Amino acid sequence: MRRLVAGTGWKMNNGIADSIRYAGELKARIAAFDTSAIDIYVLPPFTSLAAAAQAFAGSPVAVGGQNMHWEDSGSWTGEISASMLVEAGCRYVELAHSERLQHFGETYEQVRCKVDKAMNAGLIPIICLGESALEKAEGRTDQVLADQLRISTGGQPDERVPEIILAYEPRWAIDATEAASPDYIGERHRALRAVLRKHRGADIAGRTRIIYGGSVTPENGRAFLDIKDVDGLFVGRAAWKPEGFARIVELVTDVSKRKI
Ligand code: PGA
Repeated sequence: MRRLVAGTGWKMNNGIADSIRYAGELKARIAAFDTSAIDIYVLPPFTSLAAAAQAFAGSPVAVGGQNMHWEDSGSWTGEISASMLVEAGCRYVELAHSERLQHFGETYEQVRCKVDKAMNAGLIPIICLGESALEKAEGRTDQVLADQLRISTGGQPDERVPEIILAYEPRWAIDATEAASPDYIGERHRALRAVLRKHRGADIAGRTRIIYGGSVTPENGRAFLDIKDVDGLFVGRAAWKPEGFARIVELVTDVSKRKI
């Protein structure tokens, strides 16, 4: 049994005041849902983390960072460590988002170091995996995904892998007009789980969550959640307003009753 996930990354949106407003509204909107069987997270920008964590305290919504550094402290101007995220009230940290890879030159080797540090600090890493449009066109998608998975989780012993959330986010479907098709997503999730099975065994593969992100909306989300190997939704734009994320949470809650 895998607990379904409803998550949103706010990217560079919502300062402190907006984060507090968002939290108040989201909590009110989801109060009537039985969310006990799912995991919910929001990923505010760094400066809003502590305020958001406080605003969501006591609710089913946990908070996470959108990135972190692999060292504990030191001369790393502009960076944030795992322990700083924990201190700010974070439970999660997103790693390897395509915008980090594309605009800031991050690599999966760095992500591996970050995963190790995040796990040691007690954070749940959400590792983004995804092929570019070019890699897709060249027919290299499943190999690219397998490599990203192998490198980023390579430092973890088998038994810790199910603590990680894997987010399949095809780069060409992020911030796009259309998500990937349910068939395409189903194939990729199956392939990723097969890689896990091969390297980590059936039990680990069966317990590790793989969620989908990339132009998810309340309208298209159900079709993705209906796919056997999809364990949740990771949403950007459609969840930047609390009403949008509340609809996603409702959807995931609903489907979790059937999937369990
Ligand atoms: P999007 O973003 O839903 O706005 O496409 C998804 C993501 O970046 O994870």
